[in-house]
Amino acid sequence: MTPSVNVVAIDGPAGAGKSTIARELARVLNLPYLDTGAMYRGITCAALRKGIDPSDDAAVAELALITQLDISEDGLLVDGIDATADIRGEAVTRAVSSVAANSEVRRDLRERQRSWVASRGGGVVEGRDIATVVFPDARLKVFLTASPLVRAQRRVAQIGGDVDQIARDIAERDHKDSTRIDSPLRESENAMLVDTSNRSIEDVVNQIAEVFHG
Ligand code: DC
Repeated sequence: MTPSVNVVAIDGPAGAGKSTIARELARVLNLPYLDTGAMYRGITCAALRKGIDPSDDAAVAELALITQLDISEDGLLVDGIDATADIRGEAVTRAVSSVAANSEVRRDLRERQRSWVASRGGGVVEGRDIATVVFPDARLKVFLTASPLVRAQRRVAQIGGDVDQIARDIAERDHKDSTRIDSPLRESENAMLVDTSNRSIEDVVNQIAEVFHG
């Protein structure tokens, strides 16, 4: 595999600040930005639209192969229909872990992620398995974390709700994401570990950009 010279891989659990930091880092480095979580959410949305049970692995795998995902700065189209708001909704959020544990779906999306980046000559790519599986030869690997309370508070600021309930939901999703058999969430050996709990976005982005430029 040729080295992924212009790839920054950003992994970490929900609420660690991945999307905000990856988006801003991409702007600063002038690289395209890819949110791979949106792709898993897009397939989940397609299943729910079609009345397919998200935990029916065979049916979801078959569906994924024929589902078109158009991902851009403006949002996500699933088979040509805007799903930008739906993929952040409760129904998709509740079901997405089962889809993300589906090996056939992962294989398909992994290939799409690599093609997306290859056709653009690089990118800042965020997810759970980007440094460990999708781009193990990325130029820079970053693992973002934050304390459980800070993560829950950030989610509440984004989508509202009760901090304790959201903290429980996050803990459950973390557990599913990090204990699944295929490509579990874990820190890559040579990743830069950044705790974003009490730091500004600008501060974190500048630190990562400095390391990227070496
Ligand atoms: O980052 P997010 O909350 O939008 O991710 C949605 C789900 O997809 C979450 O359960 C983790 C999973 N995911 C994954 O397994 N691998 C990725 N590369 C990105 C997300």
